[in-house]
Amino acid sequence: MSRLVLLLQAGGIASAALRFACSTISIQRLDPIVEPGRIPSGHVHQIVGGNAFNATMEGDIGERGTCTTCAYTEDFSNYWTAVMYFRHENGSYKRVPQYPNAQLGSDGSDAPDIKGGMTVYYTSKDFNSNGNQFIRAFPPGFRMTVGSPTANTVDYARGHPGLRYTCLQTVLTRGSETTEFPTKPCPAGIMAIHHFPACWDGKNLDSPNHQDHMYTTTKGGFAEAGACPTSHPVRVAQVAYETMWDTSVFKDMWPKNGKQPFVWSFEGNGYGTHADYLFGWKGDSLQRALNSTCMFHRCGSPGVQGVLKTQTAEEMNKCAVRNLVVEQTDGWLVELPGQKMVPMRFRG
Ligand SMILES: *[C@@H]1O[C@H](CO)[C@@H](O)[C@H](O)[C@H]1NC(C)=O
Ligand SMILES: *[C@@H]1O[C@H](CO)[C@@H](O)[C@H](O)[C@H]1NC(C)=O
Ligand SMILES: *[C@@H]1O[C@H](CO)[C@@H](O)[C@H](O)[C@H]1NC(C)=O
Repeated sequence: MSRLVLLLQAGGIASAALRFACSTISIQRLDPIVEPGRIPSGHVHQIVGGNAFNATMEGDIGERGTCTTCAYTEDFSNYWTAVMYFRHENGSYKRVPQYPNAQLGSDGSDAPDIKGGMTVYYTSKDFNSNGNQFIRAFPPGFRMTVGSPTANTVDYARGHPGLRYTCLQTVLTRGSETTEFPTKPCPAGIMAIHHFPACWDGKNLDSPNHQDHMYTTTKGGFAEAGACPTSHPVRVAQVAYETMWDTSVFKDMWPKNGKQPFVWSFEGNGYGTHADYLFGWKGDSLQRALNSTCMFHRCGSPGVQGVLKTQTAEEMNKCAVRNLVVEQTDGWLVELPGQKMVPMRFRG
């Protein structure tokens, strides 16, 4: 037996890559990480995951959730980003609808499709290798954010290779990434990409800016990440989101001045893209999956290597939370929810 095999057996070292869909659980102005307890929070979010989602979230979410919009039934985590809006040249706004990953959301049968939502990834150092290191799951209560709504320079965007956009020529386009919103109409919409940092300080569940307890070695895409620094020595799973925004429904309303008409819900341009993660896998379920060598849908039952329990799109779509903020976020709006008093920093 080779030394590597012995090492793998001794250390439990393996490499798994999870990729799964979560349908939308809520679209509202709540932010239990950045603005806990504030109802409403500053800007509109689109949220997926477990039904313990609330204005304030402390403790072990994995033990509190009773349903989830994610394909894996033990995942009560919450995942969210800002919402993309179309700004009509007459000044009105309309929410851009989301659609699921074409390889996960609809099987072409009569079964219902997944409702909006996102694709979530948990990978190792890259898709194929953990670099011979143990990849840890997060502890209960763990949370983090990536990106910043106040970022508004191309330099910031260039310095964050994990935050990107893809102009979708078809629902399966991948690879061609930009630091800003695509400047021309995209036939199948815009994919917003968020890769979180994967090096943890090993101590803090959070930090004042929700980022300093983490360190990123992400080089963008799913390329191999570099080693973790001594300040943040613990390699945790590399979490990433892909959100498909169906901007194509506005193709006949592209402004006459040629400028791209999309804004984030904080009235922000593409550089301010950001995302939030609140860990909530039940018990040791995430670690169980990371310890295995399963890849994508093979991680779920009834797959041959299935280590995680799955549910149908119908069951995912059924899980819901109450809207704590009573306001209109859909249809044509004269202003973005919560943005009335904010100067229109990015108008242009
Ligand atoms: C994962 O692997 C580590 C290292 O071998 C081991 O200590 C731990 O018990 C395993 N956890 C699960 C849930 O399989
Ligand atoms: C949300 O938080 C409020 C106040 O703490 C609590 O009364 C309510 O039960 C919580 N809802 C959920 C779904 O956890
Ligand atoms: C802007 O245009 C849209 C689409 O035609 C329309 O529904 C909306 O009412 C218009 N808003 C204003 C302020 O005219």
